[in-house]
Amino acid sequence: MMEKTLRKPARSSHASWQPMAIMRKFLMAGILLATGALCMMGKAGVTVLAALTPAAALGKKIFSDRDLSASGKMACATCHDPRYAYGPPNGSAVQYGGPDLKSPGYRAVPSLRYILNYVPVWTHVLATNPIEQLTESDEAPAGGFTWDGRYNSPHAQAILPFFSPAEMDNRNVNDLARKLSQATYAGDFRAVFGSDIFDHPALAVEKATLALEQFEFQDESFHPYTSKFDKWLDGKAALTPQELHGKQLFDDPNGGNCASCHVDEAGANGAHPIFTDFQFEALGVPRNNEIPWNANPHYYDLGLCGPFRTDAASKDLSNCGLFRTPTLRNTAIRQVFFHNGRFHSLREALRFYVERDTNPEKWYPAGPGGKTEKFNDLPPQYRRNVDTTDAPLDRSPGQAPAWTEQNIDDVIAFLKTLDDQDVVDKESSSSSPIVAQH
Ligand code: HEC
Ligand code: HEC
Repeated sequence: MMEKTLRKPARSSHASWQPMAIMRKFLMAGILLATGALCMMGKAGVTVLAALTPAAALGKKIFSDRDLSASGKMACATCHDPRYAYGPPNGSAVQYGGPDLKSPGYRAVPSLRYILNYVPVWTHVLATNPIEQLTESDEAPAGGFTWDGRYNSPHAQAILPFFSPAEMDNRNVNDLARKLSQATYAGDFRAVFGSDIFDHPALAVEKATLALEQFEFQDESFHPYTSKFDKWLDGKAALTPQELHGKQLFDDPNGGNCASCHVDEAGANGAHPIFTDFQFEALGVPRNNEIPWNANPHYYDLGLCGPFRTDAASKDLSNCGLFRTPTLRNTAIRQVFFHNGRFHSLREALRFYVERDTNPEKWYPAGPGGKTEKFNDLPPQYRRNVDTTDAPLDRSPGQAPAWTEQNIDDVIAFLKTLDDQDVVDKESSSSSPIVAQH
């Protein structure tokens, strides 16, 4: 049997010096740039629409319409709060929806800023011949929407929240189409999609998801590029020595090595980076008992291999435990980190990266016999899928963590430069700071 480590390209400094790996990186960057160039909102001199199209303007109304839920209290904007960079407005590991807002969700809410126009379609190219497998010519799985990449477009994804019993909880398309036909914007809906649109409930729902997608693609609030980092890239702001040192630590292939996945260099056409390569990785984040589903010891969120993803990719056991790399733009204002919301401050999340392997007893409980149960949010047979080759995840107990606390301060200072102006303003004007104390 082929070991996964042979098939999956490692992104450690060592591997990335191999010509194949370098080619892969350029290929990937090329794909991202090509996608970026096609959409309107790239930072680099691409067309920006003056106003939303009628469908997108409709999507904007749908996005914040709480009447489209069973509870009458939950809209897309409830979880993807525009005031929090379209991320969660609170520190709850998962949000609660359903008819009485008491049904727990399964995963932390991701920010919808920046990534939507760039997410590549799901791909996992497997080398078929054993020589190629040994020379690592496989692509790591990449792309697709949500933490497990199971949707290939935002409009396909939007079906999930509308009908999930843990979210907006509509019974069926008739139920949702009826609510749309009673909305204050029902007239606009007919004007955009046809006067008889509500006679065709399934079509009406599909059009609603397309309107949402157009809003997400077009509206500037999804890709404002107003952070200090963006101004710095444009030569309009200076980073402090501490912020610059933080970036160095973030980039260093033998240290943080963060930029190998959370890409932070501008593209060839000047496109500003969005801090993810959209690839999947298993980081072995500790189990989070704040998620009610985790009270069941047999329940595991295995990411790419289920329970929500059920296609052929989910049958590949080397995919178990892998989640899509999130953007780090506006991450400093989050109060929940990683797919299971296990950490509640950026400092904790960063400490986890550098101490996971040097001080595992700090992060995982003792298992039977007192042995630290590393990667305890995965069943034992899948723990080998966790990345232990890419720096800083390649150390062992007794070694020093890749970063000191001072280094972590510096990286936090750098990551804060990724906060957009609106969230910075909100944070400084708010009497109760929206950022959890570190
Ligand atoms: C109850 C909270 C909640 C509500 C309401 C909600 N979402 Fe989400 N959203 C989530 C969570 C959690 C995920 C991650 C899901 C996963 O990985 O399976 C997500 C993922 C997404 C993604 C994929 C982002 C990515 O990084 O690939 C999009 C797009 C999205 N939501 C749009 C919407 C839209 C549009 C609506 C309204 C129709 C909506 N959401 C309503 C919680 C919510
Ligand atoms: C090998 C690829 C890889 C490397 C290297 C890497 N990350 Fe990540 N990062 C990921 C993936 C994948 C996730 C999501 C994992 C999950 O939720 O299980 C993630 C999640 C995060 C999150 C949580 C963001 C959120 O929205 O929940 C932060 C913060 C973060 N990384 C920062 C860093 C920093 C800082 C470094 C350098 C020390 C780093 N990452 C190195 C792939 C990587």
